[in-house]
Amino acid sequence: MISLKEVQKNPYILEFIEKSQKTLSFYHYTDHGIDHVKLVAKRAKELARKIGMSKREQELSAIAGFCHDMGNFIDRKNHEHWGALLFQTVFDGKISPEDLSIIMQAIANHDDYYAKVLNPVSAVLILADKSDVRRSRVIIKDRKIIERDIHNRVNFAVTNNKFVIDPKRKLITLKLKIDTSFVPVMEYFEIFTQRMVQCRKAAKFLGYNFALIINNFKLL
Ligand SMILES: [Fe+2]
Ligand SMILES: [Fe+2]
Repeated sequence: MISLKEVQKNPYILEFIEKSQKTLSFYHYTDHGIDHVKLVAKRAKELARKIGMSKREQELSAIAGFCHDMGNFIDRKNHEHWGALLFQTVFDGKISPEDLSIIMQAIANHDDYYAKVLNPVSAVLILADKSDVRRSRVIIKDRKIIERDIHNRVNFAVTNNKFVIDPKRKLITLKLKIDTSFVPVMEYFEIFTQRMVQCRKAAKFLGYNFALIINNFKLL
């Protein structure tokens, strides 16, 4: 079995992630590069561990988290499918067919709001990825450019992000602090409703409920 450590050292994977970040920053997207994928890998592994998934599934979740956005340098549209196929190209023959198919399925389904959640690694990846909303994800420093784009505005407004897993109550909670002087909560919903619905669907697959708390106000 391959480990996250090996994947993180693979020059092809690192190149794909870096190129994806460069490509998206050209269009003023938020961070989809190394900081984002490291955070998603860490959060996915922690979630998998806390909810009692096996060591192997924890590692697969972390690997899927690290590689999930690397298809963006080919095309933003369908980046999830490109990413899954790139993973196969790099690791074909170095990973068991079962582990390969689990990771490919997770990467390929992380961004499709209408897709069914098909395996636990996929569910964990969706929760780890969609909950990454934070001020530091905004790469552009120019306030005027930030204000022009709703994704940048909404991420910039989030001053605190906590992801809390409670196995006893079977509850996964995303707690956000939003600077409402910068962006109204309604705007947050304009962007994040679909993502939160996806998180709820993923949590349900794992046998959990999902809650969203914004500025101490429970919304979902
Ligand atoms: Fe993505
Ligand atoms: Fe992502």
